[in-house]
Amino acid sequence: ETKRVRTLPALREAITGLRSSGATIGFVPTMGALHDGHLALVRHAKSLCDKVVVSIFVNPLQFAPTEDLDRYPRDEAGDVARLQSVGCDLVYLPTVDVLYPENFVSRIEMKGPALGLETDFRPQFFSGVATVVSKLFHQVRPDVAVFGEKDFQQLAVVRALVRDFDMGIDIVGLPTIRESDGLALSSRNAYLTPEERAIAPKLHQALKAIRDGGSIEDAKAELTRAGFAQIDYIALRDAETLGDITPDTRSRRLLAALWLGKTRLIDNIAA
Ligand code: PAJ
Repeated sequence: ETKRVRTLPALREAITGLRSSGATIGFVPTMGALHDGHLALVRHAKSLCDKVVVSIFVNPLQFAPTEDLDRYPRDEAGDVARLQSVGCDLVYLPTVDVLYPENFVSRIEMKGPALGLETDFRPQFFSGVATVVSKLFHQVRPDVAVFGEKDFQQLAVVRALVRDFDMGIDIVGLPTIRESDGLALSSRNAYLTPEERAIAPKLHQALKAIRDGGSIEDAKAELTRAGFAQIDYIALRDAETLGDITPDTRSRRLLAALWLGKTRLIDNIAA
């Protein structure tokens, strides 16, 4: 039975219950509209820890006023049923005033992996992510937290956050779960029209073509021809620092963000 809590006192009490007899706790923060990518993270957390806690919170701090906060897909009943089916022990569904009461005044600002890429197009994003993830980590106090490589820059930012503030949480990254045609699963895929959905897998194909020796410029031209509206970036970076490739670079990552109609898609692969 997956237990639901909505307030910090209820969360603390439930966590104390889970912790009794020394159980370890794995944590998967999400914004809901859960798909098989999210569920893979929960299953993995379950394999690493005795108990698994999932949070569902559409974090206003990481959305710009022009973005899709109000239309972000929400399906609490479906989400809880899905979590139940993979053995999640506790789901935390805080309201906005639980995480950000009126007297809330703090922000976490980061450099390093938070610079460039997403930040060039969503300047508020990583401050919002780092602030909410930090709050959730302090509230849940997990041993392990599992994130997807789908949001590769976010994973690097969370690793730096935990390291910088000595949070002592083991951050585990999991490979991106994809549809059979290569499209990375995303809650935002629900926005795509059938025509856009048919074009969307070309993003993953283009990334593989670049990895296999094609040029970024050719791939951009191809994607534009295919119907992508605007390409925010396609960039080859150092996979650890997310900065430029240097002679010290040990592994490389190819990252992209672009628009298909009104939907912004992101993806990345090892390169
Ligand atoms: P959300 O987009 O709901 O994603 C929650 C977690 O699921 C993230 O770690 C993300 O990388 C992972 N995920 C999403 N799609 C995936 C896929 N196709 N395969 C594998 N993992 C996938 O990321 C956020 O929420 C928020 O920024 C959050 C961290 C919760 C802070 O608000």
